[in-house]
Amino acid sequence: MNERKRVLVTGAGGFIGHHLVRRLKEDGYWVRGADIKEPEYEASAADEFEVLDLREMDNCLLATRGGIDQVYNLAADMGGIGYITAYHAAISRNNILINANMLEASRQNSVQRFLFSSSACVYAQDKQKSADVAPLREEDAYPADPEPGYGWEKLFAEELCRYYRKDYGFETRIVRFHNVYGPLGTYDGGKEKAPAAMCRKVALAADQAEVEIWGDGEQTRSFMYVDDCVEGLIRIMASDYHEALNLGTDELVTINQLVTMVAEIAGKRLDIRHNLSGPQGVRGRNSENSRTRRVLGWEPSIPLQKGLAVTYKWIASELRKAIAPQAEVIETTSSAAD
Ligand SMILES: NC(=O)c1ccc[n+]([C@@H]2O[C@H](COP(=O)([O-])OP(=O)(O)OC[C@H]3O[C@@H](n4cnc5c(N)ncnc54)[C@H](O)[C@@H]3O)[C@@H](O)[C@H]2O)c1
Repeated sequence: MNERKRVLVTGAGGFIGHHLVRRLKEDGYWVRGADIKEPEYEASAADEFEVLDLREMDNCLLATRGGIDQVYNLAADMGGIGYITAYHAAISRNNILINANMLEASRQNSVQRFLFSSSACVYAQDKQKSADVAPLREEDAYPADPEPGYGWEKLFAEELCRYYRKDYGFETRIVRFHNVYGPLGTYDGGKEKAPAAMCRKVALAADQAEVEIWGDGEQTRSFMYVDDCVEGLIRIMASDYHEALNLGTDELVTINQLVTMVAEIAGKRLDIRHNLSGPQGVRGRNSENSRTRRVLGWEPSIPLQKGLAVTYKWIASELRKAIAPQAEVIETTSSAAD
């Protein structure tokens, strides 16, 4: 089916990259993983895993050596809203270096296809000012007014992919992820995103206690389960489409609803305390999937409730391993994941 293609996944020590490597191996590909660190929670399924700092051009040339057919470039310095609003300079510099060097090394080493993982943070901020926001179409990234730092460097790297295609005929694919969640993702330490943070807070809370969330909780987002994300990545790489494509669900929820869902999964009654000084990001953001459906004949569809049940169960069990028996971490009571 895939003629034993040789694939490089950068960021293979991270959340999405780790899941992608496992799926590519199941599909019969030969896979090299590269990252500045090993995966945190379980060993990589890659045929080769190399610890490399991909800000360095020499390391990018090493990672792409030996007849690699496809590169999924997922390596990035990133985190949730607290992290990406705090470190504009470092995030921008690190990711510009990774993306520029990975593109050029891939071209020099005759890679056939290069997929760049962009983000919904590229979308113009003034189109995301209301909680019942219109879903974002791909063209809503322009006129440009992206998230400072992380959004700007992602938008520029998208442009760089286009320049490489135009000037060198280099085959690039551009994916704009909307909030991915699932097991084996960071859930503490400051780089975690909202669903993992909520699962951790709920798991650690005693019944009838309070959980804190940033803002008034009426800000809205859509969330995509990691299995949908991996399926979409493989489909986009295989497609002939080289402009940016949304990869997300259009199931819009408020952060208050997200917490309530997690609490129900955990079987706990909890109060929400709003920390109005915490960073919230844009007021509302949703994915418009017409183009994704047209190009891929498919779109992400795993319901949030179902994906959260699996994610909560994993995070609760990790916490239990790490801190039991001091904290009370209650097992999920939901069978919605089955
Ligand atoms: N998870 C999401 O919701 C989401 C949303 C939008 C975009 N994205 C993009 O998807 C990609 C993967 O995200 P993720 O959620 O798996 O994040 P992640 O942080 O789990 O994975 C990124 C990986 O990149 C690695 N990395 C960072 N700097 C590096 C360097 N200098 N050299 C080599 N490796 C380096 C990290 O160690 C990490 O393992 C990223 O490009 C991210 O910007 C993710």
